[in-house]
Amino acid sequence: MAVVPGRLQGKVAIVTGAGRGIGQATGMRFAQEGAHVVVAEIDREVVFRAAEDMSRVGAEALAYPIDIGDIDQINQMVSDVVARFGKIDILVNNAGLSEKAAFLEMTPEQWDTLQRVNQRGVFFCLQAVAKQMVAQIPDAVKQAGRAEGSHGKVINISSIAGRRGRADALHYSVSKAAVITITQGSAMALAPYGINVNAICPSVVPTRMWDNLDKAMGGANGLPPGEWYRRRVERIPFKRPGTAEQIAAMCAFLSSDEGDYITGQTYNVDGGSELN
Ligand SMILES: NC(=O)c1ccc[n+]([C@@H]2O[C@H](COP(=O)([O-])OP(=O)(O)OC[C@H]3O[C@@H](n4cnc5c(N)ncnc54)[C@H](O)[C@@H]3O)[C@@H](O)[C@H]2O)c1
Repeated sequence: MAVVPGRLQGKVAIVTGAGRGIGQATGMRFAQEGAHVVVAEIDREVVFRAAEDMSRVGAEALAYPIDIGDIDQINQMVSDVVARFGKIDILVNNAGLSEKAAFLEMTPEQWDTLQRVNQRGVFFCLQAVAKQMVAQIPDAVKQAGRAEGSHGKVINISSIAGRRGRADALHYSVSKAAVITITQGSAMALAPYGINVNAICPSVVPTRMWDNLDKAMGGANGLPPGEWYRRRVERIPFKRPGTAEQIAAMCAFLSSDEGDYITGQTYNVDGGSELN
């Protein structure tokens, strides 16, 4: 878990949803290891503060307010980041929405809202960044159709909810299963260029996402605050939640040279919740 100073020295990393939670911890870890971090975040209340905090511990960090569900904004971000830093080395596709919704009551609006960010946003952000990563590769490497070493790293944040269909949040489950499939397909498409694409599945990491779920689910079931969350944690084999820093550590490893020979994989960082 220890920070490895200089491991990501000089790298340029876009982390979506980096204003809080897992994305913020990942941006902070990248900054501590020497990367320039682009905090790509929709919430203006947190985006500037997060970038300032990252700048304090490491290299220059850029606050970039963006809605990752909007493809024009994604394309603009890629071009602005290249204008500022000259390249993109790492993308962490972390921004995501979560909610519970009973199967029989799910509305088309609920379905579409989640897919727009969790699935469509992830794919088109990956595609736009991959185009830039490919453009950065020397022509000789492209013509050979094989690359020595890595020419870019992409980490997609899925969820153990993407490992099997969840009755109480099928739209979320589907969006996170899509992230795993997107990871596999894009890893194969980008392997000839030496671009690595992998995914991580957290289980329970206490962030605002879980505060909201606890309020909604605990409230609906007449439970006191925190009780629904506590019961969920009890179902984890380790009987404790994960931390945003543990997910960040995995992101840093996969983004570093140590991850050069890993692609197309999905890693559960989940206290033993899933065994696949
Ligand atoms: N916390 C967990 O236990 C857990 C478990 C499994 C998977 N995940 C996944 O991890 C990722 C991060 O979750 P978290 O727990 O840190 O959540 P969080 O709600 O604390 O943080 C998510 C961040 O993404 C931002 N965001 C949302 N929509 C966006 C958009 N359209 N464009 C740009 N930014 C946007 C939010 O403003 C927020 O800052 C999500 O993809 C989530 O599905 C989390």
